[in-house]
Amino acid sequence: MFDLKAIRNEFPMLRNATKMQGHDLVWLDNASTTFKPDAVLEAVTRYYTSETSNSHRGDYDLCYNMDQEVLKTRKAVASFIHCDPSEVVFTSGATMSLNLVAFGYAATHLGKDDEILLNEAEHASNILPWYKVAEITGCKVRFIPLDKQGRLTPENLENAFTPSTKLVCVAHVSNVLGYVAPIKELAAICHKHGALICVDGAQSVPHFATDVKDLDCDFLAFSGHKLCGPTGIGVLYGKFDLLRATDAFMSGGGMNVKFDKQGGATYLEPPARFEAGTQNLEGIMGLGAAIEFINRIGIDNVARHERELKRYAVSKILATGKATIYNPDSESGIVTFNVDGVFAQDAATYFNSKGIACRSGQHCAKVLNDFLGTVATVRASFYLYTTKEDIDALVDAIDKCKGEFLNAYF
Ligand code: ALA
Repeated sequence: MFDLKAIRNEFPMLRNATKMQGHDLVWLDNASTTFKPDAVLEAVTRYYTSETSNSHRGDYDLCYNMDQEVLKTRKAVASFIHCDPSEVVFTSGATMSLNLVAFGYAATHLGKDDEILLNEAEHASNILPWYKVAEITGCKVRFIPLDKQGRLTPENLENAFTPSTKLVCVAHVSNVLGYVAPIKELAAICHKHGALICVDGAQSVPHFATDVKDLDCDFLAFSGHKLCGPTGIGVLYGKFDLLRATDAFMSGGGMNVKFDKQGGATYLEPPARFEAGTQNLEGIMGLGAAIEFINRIGIDNVARHERELKRYAVSKILATGKATIYNPDSESGIVTFNVDGVFAQDAATYFNSKGIACRSGQHCAKVLNDFLGTVATVRASFYLYTTKEDIDALVDAIDKCKGEFLNAYF
């Protein structure tokens, strides 16, 4: 059963009546990061209070136990996204995962006659690494046009393909517009043309069920902190053969078989090859606990709850007649809007004065604003613990924003 009150009670940030500007905190910036339940905090604390050791580096019980903890989380991630544990690489987050594909795979496999396809809705972390690959290899980066709403469609991808296209990089869910890209269809088009598809799952994996085998994506990146896990831990999924063909762009202990004085080295198989140095062990344990927590609630229940909140928010905000919503029809719990006549960052500052946390600006997707025809927007993003009362508080603030903001500052 999805018991919202009980769920909220598992989060210290919600249970402890956290205040902002003297008001009860209304947290609507979940696309940026999420709160952590007790189970995650306990797992992180357990690492420091009773299980501190390194992994794969000792022949004593504590170290062996840590190896088991790492394996347990790797298996939990694998079953969460439906792949083999050997295809789960721990990274510091989605950004590092995408950079690993860029520098470890694309920079070593693409050349000057090749091209990478992106689209304007992408986050910086799914654009800038590919610009670097272009600098290194001489390959071209092109943008697939979005449709009128801002969606990436199979037709537009098909039309953008040329014989040079080798890689398509796309977010499963846009962090600004919240549209869900039809990854399975996009992957089929890529594979028909002999290209690979790399998916940024930062805004999708925490919010609805992900099956990488069914999607048939080649790589998928996501972060732990957006799914109630700790910061500094993330995952790169890659098809095993592709991971084998990927260079480790970080070398060190824990990823090699042997090396000699002549500069020779042999490396471990994936995923160990990509996990040089002491890993973020507290993060790995916390990520395992976060996945267990979400499994207990049920990822389908999370998705249903967010869709309902999205519908509720859109109808309430539109009913004020005081805001423009840029993505009323998107499928996920992200509402991107402007209060009419108020600059986005001013609106967010006003919301802050009411205890409401929303993100404003360009949301790291800096080429999308030209498409939207605005310089900045406000984004409210929901998660499994968001309530309709949180949304009511935002709607009330939108309603009063222009009058009160202008009175206060002009
Ligand atoms: N990628 C995060 C966001 O969209 C930080 O806010």
